Amino acid sequence: MSLHDRLEEIPPSGIRRLFDLASRYRDVISLGIGEPDFDTPEHIKEYAKEALEKGITHYTPNSGLKELRDAISEKLRRENSIEADPEKEIIVTTGGNQAFLLIWASFLKAGDEVLIPSPHFMTYSATVRLAGGIPVEVPLTVENGFKLTGNDLRKRLTGRTRALMLNSPNNPTGAVMTEKEVRSAVELAEKHDLMVVSDEVYESLVYDGLRHVSPASITDPQRVITVNSLSKTYAMTGWRIGYATGPEDVISRMVKFQMYLSTCPTSFAQYAAARALTDPRSKLAAEKMRSEYSRRREYIYERLKCIPGFGVAKPSGSFYIFPFVGDDSALSEKLLLEARVATVPGSAFGSAGRGYLRLAYTVPIEKIREAMDRIDATIGST
Ligand SMILES: Cc1ncc(COP(=O)(O)O)c(C=O)c1O
Repeated sequence: MSLHDRLEEIPPSGIRRLFDLASRYRDVISLGIGEPDFDTPEHIKEYAKEALEKGITHYTPNSGLKELRDAISEKLRRENSIEADPEKEIIVTTGGNQAFLLIWASFLKAGDEVLIPSPHFMTYSATVRLAGGIPVEVPLTVENGFKLTGNDLRKRLTGRTRALMLNSPNNPTGAVMTEKEVRSAVELAEKHDLMVVSDEVYESLVYDGLRHVSPASITDPQRVITVNSLSKTYAMTGWRIGYATGPEDVISRMVKFQMYLSTCPTSFAQYAAARALTDPRSKLAAEKMRSEYSRRREYIYERLKCIPGFGVAKPSGSFYIFPFVGDDSALSEKLLLEARVATVPGSAFGSAGRGYLRLAYTVPIEKIREAMDRIDATIGST
């Protein structure tokens, strides 16, 4: 099957559809798009200006600027207990999003299956398909707090299963895997010889004293490809700087693919990213954002909990909340048309998301309050 044919099979993004629809109306409060409302910290912007002044405006190696790979390697050791050789085991990508197609293309064979706990970030299943693999959704529910169990996974294992996708903290559910849960998923991967692909782009957004655990820190790092990005942690979505680390053979094929895809991410954004990862002011800025998201999370959870018929699990991470609401598409449309509040129907995150709504608390708390008042008035819950 040609790439064109595979592309035809993939539905357009439900989130983008919502975004386009919402842009037709005025006075919309958008809880739709998952992107920080904060500005990139000033010192990081200064580093980009410095890069331009220094003339860092040319191609970089396909694997990324050496200085940035060094900074990533240092960060992975310091914060994630992952050892990664900056020469051979790290690639800088155009946002974390770009890493997924590179990853699957670098090791899946036609018809290989990938287990994807679902609801899920749709890039995973779309890119598995584009690479010729088969995404296998592992449905999770609000009743068990969107927790993944060994049994859920075992039921879907076949002779073609090659990889297990993990995403903690999670988009769209807000669930965070504990160390015990990560360990049990990794043990299953070891037993069945699966590659683990771990998307950690929300690692800095963990609440209630929980700790983010990287699968690569508790198993053979040759079994794990870790994806991360500066987008969410430092409010740098438009800079498009992500990275992946994993076994040398996988990374080298990803680098080869990158040559023919975008050559490299933007040079001056890479320079600023390298400085951002080593400057202690970045951590302080990230912590400030995290504590504000946490405040918003408490508020939106308390409000949603009071709506009759909604089933809500309190999220422990990321900046999303994912209540069960019934008919997700009808309610999302009603909220947009009547309350002028944009939300994303859960079915945009795979069939296991049907019946839910995703709300992103990426607007100031006063806006969340107003959005919740409008929702209450529209569905008659007050
Ligand atoms: C779970 C998850 N992974 C990866 C990404 C990719 O982010 P970026 O490409 O900006 O690094 C996103 C963006 O929304 C996401 O939600």
